[in-house]
Amino acid sequence: MSEAAAPGPVAEAVPAGAAYLAAEGFEAECEAALIEAGGRLGARHGRLLLSPDPPRANPWAANIWLAPQEIAIASIKHAAAKLKAIQRNWALFATGLHRRATLIEAALPPVKARPLRFPEPAPTAPLGGWTLLAPDRLLASARCSSPFPHGVVRFEEDRTGPPSRAYLKLWEALTLIGTHPAPGSLCLDLGAAPGGWSYALARLGARVVAVDKAALDPRVTAMAGLRHLQQSAFALDPAAFRAAEGQPADWLFSDVVCYPARLLALVRRWRVAGAARRFVCTIKFQGATDHAAVRDFAALPGARLMHLHHNKHELTFMLV
Ligand SMILES: C[S@@+](CC[C@H](N)C(=O)[O-])C[C@H]1O[C@@H](n2cnc3c(N)ncnc32)[C@H](O)[C@@H]1O
Repeated sequence: MSEAAAPGPVAEAVPAGAAYLAAEGFEAECEAALIEAGGRLGARHGRLLLSPDPPRANPWAANIWLAPQEIAIASIKHAAAKLKAIQRNWALFATGLHRRATLIEAALPPVKARPLRFPEPAPTAPLGGWTLLAPDRLLASARCSSPFPHGVVRFEEDRTGPPSRAYLKLWEALTLIGTHPAPGSLCLDLGAAPGGWSYALARLGARVVAVDKAALDPRVTAMAGLRHLQQSAFALDPAAFRAAEGQPADWLFSDVVCYPARLLALVRRWRVAGAARRFVCTIKFQGATDHAAVRDFAALPGARLMHLHHNKHELTFMLV
């Protein structure tokens, strides 16, 4: 194996090519994904994992600092001036030296991280990440994979409409994709009960076919444009669905509790049958993370895998 491909820790002095802010509680998964992608692990600052190698996709990173650079600083004022000279918006990820870091943060322009009102689009202004490595040295990346501070997407919640909080996962996925079902779109919602996702989709004006062996909340069942098929999602035949509807599903959503391999087989069947145009599915892990399944999902052309802020021990698979 060549030195470049060798996994494992490298000396702290190696400059960072990327920094991965692991999703909270998933540092081990984030590290494993980095190594698996051929990236080397450098220094670690809390859940910020540095790598000397160029950024690679990492589903377990809440945010990836795409171009981190070390900056020498002489004072708090100097640090703020250096950052401001690069761009306006910065989010501090404090990993130590909290008092000094907070003073620098206070000298920077305020970043208003207002909760989004779905389906409002994600912010477009560049947001950098920075941390203080030493009293006279900071690490800063003007470009990050997420436009949200530390990848945390917050919404103005709907506390009265949806029957479960699962709708937040759906809102987050659609916000990150940057598109959502249009009025009249045909949406399949597999594993729909009690109906949080179906509620959110129906509110967008979509036609929703909600599939679950369990009952939906009656308020959801009563929504316009919504049908409930009370059966297993795995028993629904893609070709028959397409023929019955006279079109493929514009979107296939799944929040079914099942093993990842079973979900992957379902996604493949719907793709092969040409019975769904876009996919947003939760991959749920029971016990240990199934890394092989993650690889298989990631190998589907155009696939995007992310640990959303609103995900638990899950990843969201998106194919749009
Ligand atoms: C996490 S809940 C879904 C929550 C839902 N997305 C919401 O927003 O309210 C998972 C659902 O998967 C359903 N489920 C499990 N196995 C299923 C199957 N074979 N077919 C359809 N639904 C299934 C369960 O009944 C359960 O309602």
